[in-house]
Amino acid sequence: VGIALLGCGTVGGGLAERLLREHQLIQRRTGVEYVLRGIAVRDPLKARSGTIPADLFTCDAQALASDPSVDLVIECIGGTSVAAELVERAIDHGRHVVTANKDLIATQGPRLRALAARRGVSLRCEAAVAGGIPIVRALEESLAGETISSLAGIVNGTCNTILGALERGESYDDALADAQAKGFAEADPSSDVLGTDSAHKLAILIQLAFGLAVISPRIRRTGIDKIATADVATAARLNHRIKLVANARRTANGCEAEVAPIWVRNDHPLARIEGANNAIAVRARDAGELFFSGLGAGRGPSAASVFADTIGTLRAIAERHEYGVRGRRGLDLEPAIDVAGAYDTFERAARFSTLYDAIAAERTLRAYGVAVSGAATLTGTPLLRYLPDHRYDAKAIARALADANCAPASIFPIWNDPITHTAPASQLTAVHSLPAT
Ligand code: HSE
Repeated sequence: VGIALLGCGTVGGGLAERLLREHQLIQRRTGVEYVLRGIAVRDPLKARSGTIPADLFTCDAQALASDPSVDLVIECIGGTSVAAELVERAIDHGRHVVTANKDLIATQGPRLRALAARRGVSLRCEAAVAGGIPIVRALEESLAGETISSLAGIVNGTCNTILGALERGESYDDALADAQAKGFAEADPSSDVLGTDSAHKLAILIQLAFGLAVISPRIRRTGIDKIATADVATAARLNHRIKLVANARRTANGCEAEVAPIWVRNDHPLARIEGANNAIAVRARDAGELFFSGLGAGRGPSAASVFADTIGTLRAIAERHEYGVRGRRGLDLEPAIDVAGAYDTFERAARFSTLYDAIAAERTLRAYGVAVSGAATLTGTPLLRYLPDHRYDAKAIARALADANCAPASIFPIWNDPITHTAPASQLTAVHSLPAT
């Protein structure tokens, strides 16, 4: 089996070294005799690891991706323009593809999957979502016969690290610099903090879990860039943590999906996810509620997932049952007519009832004719819990509140989804029983 590697950065370089160094081990694990045919790089003369023979480097990525002696193309370039062209070319020429490129799968996954299905080749992307957690494989294979109704998770290590630092009283900028130094953050960290990276991963999860052709620009997202120490402190006082949660639910015509900072009660499994760890809760019809967690960012976990996909593809080639053959579930995605925000409908909003600044909000809600469920005044932060009522349109109320200058930064949905959460009602009691100070 011929292997071509596109890109030789952190993940690609590490992978090249392992393919060369662990030849015997990989052959034992896969039963496949393989040869690394070439490594496409921008500058073949640039100084790189001395263990990679210089004659493997080429700057003709196009030729390498379609080289007749290559069976498997591993894309580690990143970005969406050059990488997309090369992946498409490789698939078109009947090559199996492994990629860690979340931007690519999140924006062009449905098209590339359809192309791969037509060509009867596999397209694996385990490293694109949640680093070392085998969630892609779990959704594609272990849960292949399932009907998945919803999923929710923390899928950005940088934001989770920053939110944790704010809780410890550290500054936002220092926390971001720390995440960058540890190699968790994207090259442009605004993709992390504005929720774009999480929306990319959520789009891929939706493609896999629901079989829907949803791409990330259709997903509404709010980042953590406006969250202040006072916000996390208020949540802590009410036994909650603010987490950037990506959540999605299958609907009749598509799905609801949204990335937003929300309040998660301290005893919820998502509240216990620290630093660069990620977690994804999946609700499946027969298997029930599943919870996956582990390291979601950093070089090690991503490289491990690319390596696992490479071994998986080699094994599939050895077994001659090509992973990703025509018509395979998950490769040919259904169109999603609707992709609504997760907090739009009454049913959904009721699970994510919202805390508003009490003074402005109470006046507005009463004027709007909405019965409010009570106000609690905390030290310096008056809060009001508003429970949506089916008689009112949650969106209209949110607009009215915005018009009344209830600052969006002070509005956080409270995670109250029954997924892995057993006592939603007691949350209300917690708010009501707070002594006024
Ligand atoms: N920037 C990403 C994160 C890296 O912080 O989670 C992993 O995809």
